[in-house]
Amino acid sequence: MKILVTGGAGFIGSNFIFYIEKKHPEYELVCLDKLTYAGNLATLAPMMDRLNFKFIRGDIADQEAVFDIFETEKPDVVVNFAAESHVDRSIEAPGIFLQTNVIGTQVLLDACRSYGIQRYHQVSTDEVYGDLPLDRPDLFFTEQTPLHTSSPYSASKASADLLCNAYQRTYGLPITISRCSNNYGPYQFPEKLIPLMIANALADKPLPVYGEGLNVRDWLYVEDHCAAIDLILESGQAGQVYNIGGHNEMKNIDIVKLICKALDKPERLITYVTDRKGHDMRYAIDPTFIHEKLGWLPETKFEAGIQRTIQWYLDNQDWWTEIVNGEYQSYYERMYGNR
Ligand code: NAD
Ligand code: TYD
Repeated sequence: MKILVTGGAGFIGSNFIFYIEKKHPEYELVCLDKLTYAGNLATLAPMMDRLNFKFIRGDIADQEAVFDIFETEKPDVVVNFAAESHVDRSIEAPGIFLQTNVIGTQVLLDACRSYGIQRYHQVSTDEVYGDLPLDRPDLFFTEQTPLHTSSPYSASKASADLLCNAYQRTYGLPITISRCSNNYGPYQFPEKLIPLMIANALADKPLPVYGEGLNVRDWLYVEDHCAAIDLILESGQAGQVYNIGGHNEMKNIDIVKLICKALDKPERLITYVTDRKGHDMRYAIDPTFIHEKLGWLPETKFEAGIQRTIQWYLDNQDWWTEIVNGEYQSYYERMYGNR
Protein backbone atom coordinates (compact mmCIF):
# COMPACT_ATOMS: atom_id res chain seq x y z
CA MET A 1 0.00 0.00 0.00
CA LYS A 2 1.34 3.40 -1.02
CA ILE A 3 -0.05 6.51 0.68
CA LEU A 4 0.40 10.02 -0.66
CA VAL A 5 0.41 12.24 2.44
CA THR A 6 0.00 15.91 1.57
CA GLY A 7 1.04 18.51 4.16
CA GLY A 8 3.22 15.91 5.90
CA ALA A 9 5.80 18.48 7.02
CA GLY A 10 3.18 20.22 9.18
CA PHE A 11 1.92 19.41 12.66
CA ILE A 12 -0.64 16.64 12.19
CA GLY A 13 0.73 15.33 8.88
CA SER A 14 4.18 14.68 10.37
CA ASN A 15 2.66 12.97 13.41
CA PHE A 16 0.61 10.84 10.99
CA ILE A 17 3.73 9.84 9.04
CA PHE A 18 5.46 8.77 12.28
CA TYR A 19 2.34 6.91 13.40
CA ILE A 20 2.00 5.00 10.12
CA GLU A 21 5.72 4.22 9.93
CA LYS A 22 5.48 2.60 13.36
CA LYS A 23 2.14 0.86 12.93
CA HIS A 24 2.48 -0.24 9.29
CA PRO A 25 6.20 -0.38 8.46
CA GLU A 26 5.28 -2.22 5.27
CA TYR A 27 3.43 0.80 3.81
CA GLU A 28 5.14 3.13 1.38
CA LEU A 29 4.78 6.84 2.13
CA VAL A 30 5.17 9.74 -0.27
CA CYS A 31 4.95 13.17 1.33
CA LEU A 32 3.99 16.16 -0.83
CA ASP A 33 4.45 19.48 0.93
CA LYS A 34 4.98 23.04 -0.28
CA LEU A 35 7.00 23.88 2.85
CA THR A 36 5.16 27.08 3.60
CA TYR A 37 6.02 28.95 6.82
CA ALA A 38 4.15 26.13 8.65
CA GLY A 39 6.03 23.25 7.07
CA ASN A 40 9.35 22.18 8.53
CA LEU A 41 11.43 19.59 6.75
CA ALA A 42 13.60 19.18 9.85
CA THR A 43 10.61 17.48 11.48
CA LEU A 44 10.83 14.69 8.92
CA ALA A 45 14.59 14.21 9.29
CA PRO A 46 14.20 10.75 10.93
CA MET A 47 12.25 9.60 7.84
CA MET A 48 14.61 10.82 5.15
CA ASP A 49 16.84 7.75 4.90
CA ARG A 50 13.97 5.23 5.07
CA LEU A 51 13.58 3.24 1.88
CA ASN A 52 9.79 3.33 2.15
CA PHE A 53 9.66 7.16 2.38
CA LYS A 54 9.95 9.86 -0.23
CA PHE A 55 9.62 13.63 0.18
CA ILE A 56 8.52 15.84 -2.71
CA ARG A 57 8.37 19.60 -2.38
CA GLY A 58 5.37 20.90 -4.28
CA ASP A 59 2.04 22.68 -4.21
CA ILE A 60 -1.21 20.68 -4.15
CA ALA A 61 -2.78 23.43 -6.26
CA ASP A 62 -0.18 22.96 -9.03
CA GLN A 63 -2.03 20.66 -11.43
CA GLU A 64 0.97 19.77 -13.57
CA ALA A 65 3.11 18.86 -10.57
CA VAL A 66 0.34 16.86 -8.90
CA PHE A 67 -0.55 14.92 -12.05
CA ASP A 68 3.13 14.19 -12.55
CA ILE A 69 3.36 12.74 -9.04
CA PHE A 70 0.31 10.53 -9.64
CA GLU A 71 1.80 9.40 -12.96
CA THR A 72 5.14 8.39 -11.44
CA GLU A 73 4.20 7.38 -7.88
CA LYS A 74 0.79 5.76 -8.51
CA PRO A 75 -0.49 6.14 -4.92
CA ASP A 76 -3.22 3.75 -3.72
CA VAL A 77 -4.47 6.20 -1.10
CA VAL A 78 -4.31 9.97 -0.64
CA VAL A 79 -4.61 11.61 2.78
CA ASN A 80 -4.90 15.36 2.37
CA PHE A 81 -3.57 17.30 5.37
CA ALA A 82 -2.17 20.16 3.26
CA ALA A 83 -3.87 23.39 4.15
CA GLU A 84 -3.50 26.89 5.37
CA SER A 85 -4.66 26.18 8.90
CA HIS A 86 -4.52 29.30 11.08
CA VAL A 87 -7.79 31.21 11.63
CA ASP A 88 -6.05 34.51 12.50
CA ARG A 89 -4.06 34.45 9.25
CA SER A 90 -7.26 33.71 7.31
CA ILE A 91 -8.82 36.86 8.79
CA GLU A 92 -5.76 38.85 7.65
CA ALA A 93 -5.49 37.38 4.14
CA PRO A 94 -8.17 34.93 2.95
CA GLY A 95 -6.94 34.47 -0.65
CA ILE A 96 -4.27 31.83 -0.03
CA PHE A 97 -6.81 29.85 2.04
CA LEU A 98 -9.07 29.53 -0.98
CA GLN A 99 -6.15 28.75 -3.26
CA THR A 100 -4.67 25.95 -1.12
CA ASN A 101 -7.67 24.61 0.75
CA VAL A 102 -10.23 24.71 -2.09
CA ILE A 103 -8.33 24.72 -5.39
CA GLY A 104 -5.66 22.42 -3.96
CA THR A 105 -8.35 19.91 -2.96
CA GLN A 106 -9.95 20.16 -6.42
CA VAL A 107 -6.60 19.45 -8.12
CA LEU A 108 -6.00 16.39 -5.90
CA LEU A 109 -9.52 15.12 -6.58
CA ASP A 110 -9.05 15.60 -10.33
CA ALA A 111 -5.81 13.64 -10.18
CA CYS A 112 -7.63 10.84 -8.32
CA ARG A 113 -10.30 10.91 -11.02
CA SER A 114 -7.76 10.68 -13.83
CA TYR A 115 -5.44 8.07 -12.35
CA GLY A 116 -7.79 6.09 -10.11
CA ILE A 117 -7.51 5.66 -6.36
CA GLN A 118 -8.54 3.17 -3.68
CA ARG A 119 -9.36 5.95 -1.24
CA TYR A 120 -9.10 9.71 -0.97
CA HIS A 121 -9.28 10.95 2.62
CA GLN A 122 -9.95 14.60 3.34
CA VAL A 123 -8.72 15.84 6.73
CA SER A 124 -11.33 18.40 7.66
CA THR A 125 -12.21 20.17 10.89
CA ASP A 126 -15.05 20.60 13.36
CA GLU A 127 -14.87 24.34 12.55
CA VAL A 128 -17.01 23.69 9.45
CA TYR A 129 -19.99 23.36 11.83
CA GLY A 130 -19.58 26.92 13.18
CA ASP A 131 -19.87 27.27 16.93
CA LEU A 132 -22.13 26.31 19.82
CA PRO A 133 -23.41 28.61 22.57
CA LEU A 134 -21.73 28.45 25.97
CA ASP A 135 -25.07 28.13 27.77
CA ARG A 136 -26.08 24.92 25.97
CA PRO A 137 -23.64 22.25 27.21
CA ASP A 138 -26.11 19.63 25.99
CA LEU A 139 -25.37 20.49 22.32
CA PHE A 140 -22.63 18.75 20.29
CA PHE A 141 -21.60 18.57 16.63
CA THR A 142 -22.76 15.36 14.96
CA GLU A 143 -22.17 14.33 11.35
CA GLN A 144 -25.69 15.68 10.64
CA THR A 145 -25.03 19.18 11.99
CA PRO A 146 -25.38 21.65 9.08
CA LEU A 147 -22.24 23.40 7.84
CA HIS A 148 -22.28 26.96 9.16
CA THR A 149 -18.88 28.61 8.95
CA SER A 150 -17.51 31.70 10.72
CA SER A 151 -13.98 32.40 9.44
CA PRO A 152 -12.42 32.42 5.96
CA TYR A 153 -10.45 29.36 7.17
CA SER A 154 -13.54 27.36 8.11
CA ALA A 155 -15.36 28.54 4.97
CA SER A 156 -12.50 27.25 2.83
CA LYS A 157 -12.47 23.89 4.65
CA ALA A 158 -16.24 23.54 4.29
CA SER A 159 -15.95 24.35 0.57
CA ALA A 160 -13.40 21.58 0.20
CA ASP A 161 -15.72 19.16 2.02
CA LEU A 162 -18.55 20.05 -0.36
CA LEU A 163 -16.27 19.45 -3.34
CA CYS A 164 -15.42 16.03 -1.90
CA ASN A 165 -19.13 15.21 -1.62
CA ALA A 166 -19.65 16.37 -5.21
CA TYR A 167 -16.79 14.22 -6.57
CA GLN A 168 -18.04 11.23 -4.60
CA ARG A 169 -21.54 11.55 -6.01
CA THR A 170 -20.75 12.73 -9.54
CA TYR A 171 -17.70 10.61 -10.33
CA GLY A 172 -18.11 7.83 -7.76
CA LEU A 173 -14.73 8.59 -6.18
CA PRO A 174 -14.19 6.61 -2.93
CA ILE A 175 -13.89 9.52 -0.51
CA THR A 176 -13.98 9.72 3.27
CA ILE A 177 -13.91 12.92 5.34
CA SER A 178 -12.94 13.33 8.99
CA ARG A 179 -13.79 16.38 11.08
CA CYS A 180 -11.62 16.57 14.15
CA SER A 181 -11.59 18.94 17.08
CA ASN A 182 -8.51 20.97 18.16
CA ASN A 183 -5.32 18.90 18.27
CA TYR A 184 -2.35 19.38 20.57
CA GLY A 185 1.00 17.59 20.83
CA PRO A 186 4.58 17.66 19.49
CA TYR A 187 5.54 19.62 16.34
CA GLN A 188 2.66 22.12 16.46
CA PHE A 189 3.72 25.46 15.03
CA PRO A 190 4.09 28.05 17.80
CA GLU A 191 1.37 30.37 16.51
CA LYS A 192 -1.43 28.12 17.80
CA LEU A 193 -2.69 28.52 21.36
CA ILE A 194 -0.83 25.81 23.28
CA PRO A 195 2.67 26.02 21.76
CA LEU A 196 2.47 29.83 21.62
CA MET A 197 1.70 30.01 25.33
CA ILE A 198 4.46 27.53 26.18
CA ALA A 199 7.02 29.43 24.08
CA ASN A 200 6.02 32.84 25.47
CA ALA A 201 5.89 31.61 29.06
CA LEU A 202 9.37 30.14 28.78
CA ALA A 203 10.61 33.52 27.51
CA ASP A 204 8.68 35.37 30.27
CA LYS A 205 6.74 37.17 27.53
CA PRO A 206 3.06 38.23 27.83
CA LEU A 207 0.50 35.47 27.25
CA PRO A 208 -2.06 37.06 24.89
CA VAL A 209 -5.54 35.75 25.70
CA TYR A 210 -8.25 36.87 23.28
CA GLY A 211 -11.33 38.52 24.80
CA GLU A 212 -12.07 37.12 28.22
CA GLY A 213 -10.56 33.71 27.52
CA LEU A 214 -13.92 32.01 27.96
CA ASN A 215 -14.06 30.38 24.51
CA VAL A 216 -14.16 26.61 24.70
CA ARG A 217 -12.21 24.17 22.54
CA ASP A 218 -12.41 20.36 22.57
CA TRP A 219 -8.77 19.19 22.78
CA LEU A 220 -7.52 15.89 21.39
CA TYR A 221 -3.99 14.50 21.55
CA VAL A 222 -2.64 14.40 17.99
CA GLU A 223 -1.81 10.67 18.07
CA ASP A 224 -5.45 9.86 18.77
CA HIS A 225 -6.40 11.82 15.64
CA CYS A 226 -3.81 9.86 13.62
CA ALA A 227 -5.15 6.55 14.96
CA ALA A 228 -8.68 7.56 13.94
CA ILE A 229 -7.59 8.38 10.37
CA ASP A 230 -5.71 5.08 10.13
CA LEU A 231 -8.87 3.27 11.21
CA ILE A 232 -10.98 5.18 8.68
CA LEU A 233 -8.55 4.20 5.90
CA GLU A 234 -8.75 0.55 6.97
CA SER A 235 -12.44 0.15 7.76
CA GLY A 236 -14.24 3.39 6.95
CA GLN A 237 -16.96 3.52 4.36
CA ALA A 238 -16.58 5.60 1.20
CA GLY A 239 -18.96 8.55 1.17
CA GLN A 240 -18.96 8.82 4.95
CA VAL A 241 -18.05 11.71 7.25
CA TYR A 242 -16.53 10.82 10.65
CA ASN A 243 -16.40 13.29 13.54
CA ILE A 244 -13.36 12.84 15.80
CA GLY A 245 -13.13 14.20 19.34
CA GLY A 246 -12.70 13.02 22.90
CA HIS A 247 -15.16 15.08 24.98
CA ASN A 248 -12.40 17.19 26.43
CA GLU A 249 -13.78 20.71 26.50
CA MET A 250 -11.68 23.42 28.11
CA LYS A 251 -11.84 27.20 28.37
CA ASN A 252 -8.81 28.95 26.85
CA ILE A 253 -8.02 30.72 30.10
CA ASP A 254 -7.88 27.43 31.99
CA ILE A 255 -5.40 26.03 29.46
CA VAL A 256 -3.18 29.10 29.80
CA LYS A 257 -3.29 28.93 33.61
CA LEU A 258 -2.44 25.25 33.49
CA ILE A 259 0.60 25.99 31.31
CA CYS A 260 1.73 28.71 33.74
CA LYS A 261 1.46 26.26 36.61
CA ALA A 262 3.28 23.46 34.81
CA LEU A 263 6.16 25.79 33.89
CA ASP A 264 6.16 27.50 37.28
CA LYS A 265 5.47 30.89 35.68
CA PRO A 266 3.34 33.65 37.26
CA GLU A 267 -0.22 34.19 36.02
CA ARG A 268 0.53 37.90 35.81
CA LEU A 269 2.06 37.11 32.39
CA ILE A 270 -1.51 36.63 31.17
CA THR A 271 -2.57 39.65 29.10
CA TYR A 272 -6.10 40.04 27.83
CA VAL A 273 -6.02 41.39 24.26
CA THR A 274 -8.62 42.44 21.69
CA ASP A 275 -10.82 39.54 20.74
CA ARG A 276 -10.52 37.69 17.41
CA LYS A 277 -13.08 38.94 14.86
CA GLY A 278 -16.04 36.56 14.62
CA HIS A 279 -14.50 34.41 17.37
CA ASP A 280 -16.27 31.03 17.66
CA MET A 281 -17.44 30.46 21.25
CA ARG A 282 -17.49 26.72 21.68
CA TYR A 283 -16.59 23.61 19.70
CA ALA A 284 -17.69 20.19 20.96
CA ILE A 285 -17.69 16.93 19.02
CA ASP A 286 -20.06 14.01 19.49
CA PRO A 287 -17.81 11.05 18.57
CA THR A 288 -20.52 8.39 18.94
CA PHE A 289 -20.58 7.47 15.25
CA ILE A 290 -16.86 6.67 14.84
CA HIS A 291 -16.92 4.85 18.17
CA GLU A 292 -19.90 2.68 17.24
CA LYS A 293 -18.90 2.05 13.60
CA LEU A 294 -15.12 1.69 13.91
CA GLY A 295 -14.53 1.16 17.63
CA TRP A 296 -12.35 4.27 17.91
CA LEU A 297 -11.78 5.79 21.33
CA PRO A 298 -9.12 8.31 22.37
CA GLU A 299 -6.32 6.77 24.42
CA THR A 300 -4.59 9.83 25.86
CA LYS A 301 -6.16 11.63 28.78
CA PHE A 302 -5.67 15.40 28.67
CA GLU A 303 -3.69 15.54 31.94
CA ALA A 304 -1.10 13.11 30.56
CA GLY A 305 -1.14 14.52 27.02
CA ILE A 306 -0.57 18.12 28.04
CA GLN A 307 2.31 17.16 30.37
CA ARG A 308 3.89 15.13 27.56
CA THR A 309 3.43 18.07 25.18
CA ILE A 310 4.94 20.64 27.55
CA GLN A 311 7.86 18.30 28.19
CA TRP A 312 8.34 17.86 24.43
CA TYR A 313 8.59 21.65 23.95
CA LEU A 314 11.07 21.80 26.84
CA ASP A 315 13.16 18.99 25.37
CA ASN A 316 13.04 20.27 21.78
CA GLN A 317 13.69 23.98 22.10
CA ASP A 318 15.89 23.92 18.97
CA TRP A 319 12.92 22.78 16.89
CA TRP A 320 10.76 25.75 17.76
CA THR A 321 13.29 28.48 18.50
CA GLU A 322 14.62 28.04 14.98
CA ILE A 323 11.22 28.69 13.49
CA VAL A 324 10.33 31.52 15.87
CA ASN A 325 12.18 33.96 13.62
CA GLY A 326 11.96 35.62 10.20
CA GLU A 327 8.50 35.51 8.68
CA TYR A 328 6.92 34.30 11.89
CA GLN A 329 8.46 37.11 13.92
CA SER A 330 7.02 39.76 11.60
CA TYR A 331 3.63 38.02 11.67
CA TYR A 332 3.77 38.09 15.46
CA GLU A 333 4.53 41.81 15.47
CA ARG A 334 1.67 42.49 13.04
CA MET A 335 -0.84 40.40 14.99
CA TYR A 336 0.03 41.29 18.55
CA GLY A 337 2.01 44.56 18.22
CA ASN A 338 -0.82 46.93 19.15
CA ARG A 339 -3.59 44.54 20.08
P1 NAD B 1 -0.14 22.96 9.70
O1 NAD B 1 -0.38 24.38 9.32
O2 NAD B 1 0.74 22.66 10.87
O3 NAD B 1 0.49 22.18 8.44
C1 NAD B 1 0.04 22.37 7.14
C2 NAD B 1 1.09 21.77 6.20
O4 NAD B 1 0.59 21.91 4.85
C3 NAD B 1 2.45 22.47 6.23
O5 NAD B 1 3.49 21.53 6.23
C4 NAD B 1 2.46 23.29 4.94
O6 NAD B 1 3.78 23.48 4.41
C5 NAD B 1 1.63 22.41 4.03
N1 NAD B 1 1.00 23.18 2.94
C6 NAD B 1 0.36 24.36 3.02
N2 NAD B 1 -0.06 24.74 1.80
C7 NAD B 1 0.31 23.76 0.93
C8 NAD B 1 0.15 23.57 -0.47
N3 NAD B 1 -0.47 24.49 -1.23
N4 NAD B 1 0.64 22.45 -1.03
C9 NAD B 1 1.29 21.52 -0.28
N5 NAD B 1 1.49 21.67 1.04
C10 NAD B 1 1.00 22.77 1.64
O7 NAD B 1 -1.58 22.34 9.87
P2 NAD B 1 -2.07 21.16 10.85
O8 NAD B 1 -2.47 21.75 12.14
O9 NAD B 1 -1.10 20.04 10.80
O10 NAD B 1 -3.42 20.73 10.10
C11 NAD B 1 -3.40 19.71 9.11
C12 NAD B 1 -4.82 19.51 8.60
O11 NAD B 1 -5.67 19.16 9.67
C13 NAD B 1 -5.41 20.77 7.98
O12 NAD B 1 -6.13 20.39 6.83
C14 NAD B 1 -6.34 21.31 9.05
O13 NAD B 1 -7.42 21.98 8.47
C15 NAD B 1 -6.78 20.03 9.72
N6 NAD B 1 -7.16 20.14 11.15
C16 NAD B 1 -6.29 20.72 12.05
C17 NAD B 1 -6.65 20.75 13.41
C18 NAD B 1 -5.71 21.34 14.43
O14 NAD B 1 -6.10 21.44 15.60
N7 NAD B 1 -4.49 21.69 14.10
C19 NAD B 1 -7.86 20.21 13.82
C20 NAD B 1 -8.72 19.62 12.88
C21 NAD B 1 -8.34 19.59 11.54
P1 TYD C 1 -6.05 28.34 17.84
O1 TYD C 1 -4.96 27.51 18.42
O2 TYD C 1 -5.70 29.42 16.87
O3 TYD C 1 -7.11 27.31 17.22
P2 TYD C 1 -8.60 27.58 16.64
O4 TYD C 1 -8.85 29.03 16.55
O5 TYD C 1 -8.54 26.94 15.30
O6 TYD C 1 -9.52 26.90 17.60
O7 TYD C 1 -6.83 29.04 19.03
C1 TYD C 1 -7.46 28.27 20.04
C2 TYD C 1 -8.23 29.22 20.93
O8 TYD C 1 -7.30 30.07 21.61
C3 TYD C 1 -9.14 30.16 20.16
O9 TYD C 1 -10.34 30.35 20.93
C4 TYD C 1 -8.38 31.45 20.07
C5 TYD C 1 -7.56 31.45 21.34
N1 TYD C 1 -6.24 32.14 21.27
C6 TYD C 1 -5.90 33.11 22.20
O10 TYD C 1 -6.66 33.43 23.13
N2 TYD C 1 -4.66 33.70 22.11
C7 TYD C 1 -3.78 33.39 21.11
O11 TYD C 1 -2.68 34.00 21.05
C8 TYD C 1 -4.15 32.38 20.17
C9 TYD C 1 -3.21 31.99 19.06
C10 TYD C 1 -5.39 31.77 20.29
